[in-house]
Amino acid sequence: MIVATTCEDRAAEPRVAITPETAKKLAALGATVKIEAGAGSASGIPDREYEAAGATIVKTAVDALSAADIVLKVRRPSVLELSQMKKGALVIATMDPYGHEEALRAMAEAGVAAFAMELMPRITRAQVMDVLSSQANLAGYRAVIDAAAEYGRALPMMMTAAGTVPAARIFIMGAGVAGLQAVATARRLGAVVTATDVRPAAKEQVESLGAKFIAVEDEEFKQAETAGGYAKEMSEAYKAKQGELVASHIAKQDIVVTTALIPGRPAPRLVSSAMVASMRPGSVVVDLAVERGGNVEGAKFGETVVTPNGVKIVGHANVPGRLAASSSALYARNLYAFIETLIDKASKAIAVKWDDELVKATLLTRDGAIVHQSFAPKAIAANGDA
Ligand code: NAI
Repeated sequence: MIVATTCEDRAAEPRVAITPETAKKLAALGATVKIEAGAGSASGIPDREYEAAGATIVKTAVDALSAADIVLKVRRPSVLELSQMKKGALVIATMDPYGHEEALRAMAEAGVAAFAMELMPRITRAQVMDVLSSQANLAGYRAVIDAAAEYGRALPMMMTAAGTVPAARIFIMGAGVAGLQAVATARRLGAVVTATDVRPAAKEQVESLGAKFIAVEDEEFKQAETAGGYAKEMSEAYKAKQGELVASHIAKQDIVVTTALIPGRPAPRLVSSAMVASMRPGSVVVDLAVERGGNVEGAKFGETVVTPNGVKIVGHANVPGRLAASSSALYARNLYAFIETLIDKASKAIAVKWDDELVKATLLTRDGAIVHQSFAPKAIAANGDA
């Protein structure tokens, strides 16, 4: 059983899907681990550390991929990489499947069994495999650090001989995994922190971290969580009321961090240009949702924009990649935990239970077809008839 990883697209992705720690564990499961030379370098992992962990460093991607039974990646493999893989190989990555039907077809045509880690169900058994949480947690932390670095003032209140420096006011919008870590980080740095979310459950979580919760708490708000624990798209009327409350609040903030997402949909627009313009010069807005369309009007993917009134809107791409050593370590552990469920420990061979709920939830393609019900409803219906 060969498990392999290759260098990611260097311009876009510094993370790596196997670390020396997980290479060692994979070897203990009976795998021969192959790593393309340099795959860990942007995560601070030199090739020799993989070798010390028992992995084999190979020169090129094709050397790693051509015989691999399991391919681990951070991002969806390219068409070139797919062409270098064996038919039937298990390919496990964050696949970003929504709106990328062509890429899904390419994976189906390559004959690989492609698994999307971000579709892992959020059930207790799969918590250890939850890449959305492991990466969002670090992104939430980093968003506050990035904001602090862009902000020309101190965050905590300081009483000095030369006078008092006031604490910064930080508002976190969206209090899921990233938002709650942002709240905790901002609190640790001494800021005065408020947060908002459309899910009622978030209120208690925000308050338990010592921050104040800001939201229109009407009947719609009380019903705003799906059974899966995610946010629903809110009505226009709610958005207008919430918008008014948020607008007056933002005008008094020094830093705003937005993290709001709705699964499978563009990010909700929460901060208008007028709201940004109401902030004082030197204020900072960090949009963690910029990759999914952005929560903030005027945010630009991969850029820091300075508005005419001197507010910085930070739209870093791939925020987890900005602390690649930490995010790779957690991501690789998430992958390892999933692989453990795909291998028979006694025979040390791949033994995928195709009807396991984790497999069914994440499997996108198999045997030449797109098999996931969210992406191939017709195929599923046809299978049901058979
Ligand atoms: P997410 O990344 O999909 O969204 C981030 C946050 O934005 C969410 O809290 C969402 O409610 C909020 N949001 C969406 N629209 C908004 C709007 N218009 N205004 C303000 N906020 C808005 O969410 P994430 O971080 O993945 O977490 C979603 C839920 O799943 C949370 O309840 C979290 O605690 C839960 N969860 C459960 C896990 C488990 O049981 N294993 C693991 C991780 C998260």
